[in-house]
Amino acid sequence: MKAETVLVTGASSGIGLELAKCFAADRSNLVLVARNTDALEKLAEELRREHAIETHVLTADLARPESPQIIFDELQVRKISVDVLVNNAGFGLHGGFAELPLKRQLEIIHVNIAALVELTGLFLPGMIRCQRGGILNVGSVAGFLPGPNMAVYYASKAFVLSFSEALHEELLGSGVSVTNLCPGPTESNFSQVARSHRTRETRVEKMSAAAVAQIGHADFRRNRCLSVPGIKNKILTVVGSKILPRAAARKLVKRYNKLT
Ligand SMILES: NC(=O)c1ccc[n+]([C@@H]2O[C@H](COP(=O)([O-])OP(=O)(O)OC[C@H]3O[C@@H](n4cnc5c(N)ncnc54)[C@H](OP(=O)(O)O)[C@@H]3O)[C@@H](O)[C@H]2O)c1
Repeated sequence: MKAETVLVTGASSGIGLELAKCFAADRSNLVLVARNTDALEKLAEELRREHAIETHVLTADLARPESPQIIFDELQVRKISVDVLVNNAGFGLHGGFAELPLKRQLEIIHVNIAALVELTGLFLPGMIRCQRGGILNVGSVAGFLPGPNMAVYYASKAFVLSFSEALHEELLGSGVSVTNLCPGPTESNFSQVARSHRTRETRVEKMSAAAVAQIGHADFRRNRCLSVPGIKNKILTVVGSKILPRAAARKLVKRYNKLT
């Protein structure tokens, strides 16, 4: 059978970079997507050398509405068919909704939701036709909770959770897997981008991006609907979504995300 090709968005750092390494270890060929071309080229070269795989770099800003179609068209031209799509690119911003720049918050929706849905819509029909492959969406434990002081980010991950669960169910028996990886606090550039240095997030213990990626990758291979890495995060999702009253959950998150 032809070697699998995996497209990873946000492969230039953090969880996406580590997920690319996991799929490379499976000897899958890779298409690496993000804005930072140098970081992508460096990773592509490293993985090509270590695993004797094909690696392709596509520079794209997923906040731009035209990017998913450009990526899809470019891969058609290069005759590269994608078997697995890893929708990992994403970011958040700490602060009150009314205080944060509206344009940046709309970019969260473009990257975390719109690009994820469009890439899924473009690549999924091919997977269904071939009865193989799948989609690994990177959500967050934030998807299980209301998120005062990070409202758009939490809401975007709630969308990813709901969308991924629905697709998982729709595609059972099709040969196509769908998994929603829901990390908790993880070491990466996320906090710096989100300006979390002024919140309680700095005080919590973080998992390594490598550990999160390995768990997500393994759960995807088993076609688990949800993948929540780490016992603390598992407890948080159960307590936050099933045990704690919604009003109490939002008060706790508000304090956690409060800028000091
Ligand atoms: N770290 C955490 O605590 C945590 C917890 C739960 C969920 N997550 C989720 O995990 C995913 C990966 O984040 P991370 O923690 O690994 O953070 P990260 O190190 O900041 O990585 C984010 C990745 O997304 C890419 N990206 C951001 N904006 C983009 C854009 N406009 N166009 C294209 N690519 C873009 C970045 O690449 P460029 O900058 O090169 O474009 C980078 O490769 C995100 O979806 C995040 O929401 C993270």
